[in-house]
Amino acid sequence: MDDEGIIPEALEETITQVMAAGRRIKFLYSVPTFHNPAAVTLAAGRRARILDICRRSDLLLIEDNPYGLLGFDGEPQRALRADSAEGVVYLGTFSKTVAPGLRVGWALAPHAIRDKLVLAAESAMLCHSSLAQLMVREYLASQPWQEQIKLFCELYAERRDAMLGALETSMPPGCRWTRPGGGFYVWLRLPGGLDSKAMLPRAISARVAYVPGTGFYADGSGGEYLRLSYCYPEPAKIREGIRRLAGVVEAETELRATFGAWPADSES
Ligand SMILES: Cc1ncc(COP(=O)(O)O)c(C=O)c1O
Repeated sequence: MDDEGIIPEALEETITQVMAAGRRIKFLYSVPTFHNPAAVTLAAGRRARILDICRRSDLLLIEDNPYGLLGFDGEPQRALRADSAEGVVYLGTFSKTVAPGLRVGWALAPHAIRDKLVLAAESAMLCHSSLAQLMVREYLASQPWQEQIKLFCELYAERRDAMLGALETSMPPGCRWTRPGGGFYVWLRLPGGLDSKAMLPRAISARVAYVPGTGFYADGSGGEYLRLSYCYPEPAKIREGIRRLAGVVEAETELRATFGAWPADSES
């Protein structure tokens, strides 16, 4: 993945390698729009290519799209599913646009696997709350939800700008971060071999928190990354949080320059 999402050549290469090793790929899971945590969006020019690779490899694509309506510039991205009803399972949720506590979402799936999905859902939760679903139905039927989403987008765009501005002003040299066009997150890369998981207790002592990148990698890598969320705090708090985080990164950089790598990530 780079700034434009899944790299088609890398996907093809991985599929070839996995198949050559005699393993079967069940599906490709993807968050193509305003990715959590990487905050990137699959570029328009890559979308058809990814669908084509999946089609040729007989690979089902799961399009998880919780943030698709929360974009800051222009119209929402066209869903991958719109161009491949038979090859894509589309997952939607009201968690980001109505209320997370309701735990109501939906799936658009090819006919052939719909019954199996219903069975899987029933075995996982027996019976989903009818009350929660009725509340969402009533909300959609009686409230100006599209206007509400526009307000959310304005609110989050202001918070995204506050975070990007504060990062620009405060972060020490060598840090790199994404500039999200929507969604909730900024994905930041630390410089000089710093480890976001080892640094977290110091950040919490400074009363600022983030999610270490390791939480998003199945193999425990990703320690040089951290995920910042701007959806909840107001701009003044975001600026203060980034100021504190910058102080933690600076202190950690100094410690590392003085003492070298921590035992956990060195050979000794
Ligand atoms: C990529 C992604 N998928 C799914 C979800 C969860 O949605 P829900 O609250 O409907 O379980 C989230 C929420 O953070 C998410 O970021």
